[in-house]
Amino acid sequence: MPLEKHSAGPAGAITYSDDPSRVNLSQLLALYHITYWAKERTAEQVTRALRHSHPVITAWDGGRLVGFTRVISDLTYRATIWDVIVAESHQKRGIGREMMRLVLDHPDLKTVSMFVLLTKNQHRFYEHLGFETDTKMSMALRR
Ligand SMILES: CC(C)(COP(=O)(O)OP(=O)(O)OC[C@H]1O[C@@H](n2cnc3c(N)ncnc32)[C@H](O)[C@@H]1OP(=O)(O)O)[C@@H](O)C(=O)NCCC(=O)NCCS
Repeated sequence: MPLEKHSAGPAGAITYSDDPSRVNLSQLLALYHITYWAKERTAEQVTRALRHSHPVITAWDGGRLVGFTRVISDLTYRATIWDVIVAESHQKRGIGREMMRLVLDHPDLKTVSMFVLLTKNQHRFYEHLGFETDTKMSMALRR
């Protein structure tokens, strides 16, 4: 059953959802366009990527998509977290942290013992949530 959470904290009235059918593609592309890594993504590719991501978390200010993240996981042992984005107008109000908490506490990821993500310049944001840099173990192949 899709999860829905409302918060009236410092972020104002924000609604969080893990229902992938709620994702509005053109609003998501607009969010991607504020990043340095996802500017070129197309609607077709993003649709395919979303089909293979779970959970997909969105944050809404009324009808406006103001936050997004998605997970790729075996839903048992491991999960990777991708594309954590909060609209510039809504940053520093706790929305990023709330979306990350919804991922880390998600019922479908209950037994996952390791969460992995990549970041170039947001280490402190993730450190607040318990993530640690591990330069000894990480490898990546880009193509
Ligand atoms: C990084 C990002 C997702 C953070 O979202 P946010 O909603 O602004 O962050 P929050 O308001 O939830 O911040 C949570 C905590 O992290 C801290 N924090 C957030 N961004 C930080 C930063 N760049 N440096 C240091 N601390 C930061 C906040 O002060 C807050 O601290 P607190 O727990 O003591 O209150 C958002 O800035 C963003 O979308 N940036 C552009 C896209 C991006 O770089 N995404 C990350 C890719 S790896």
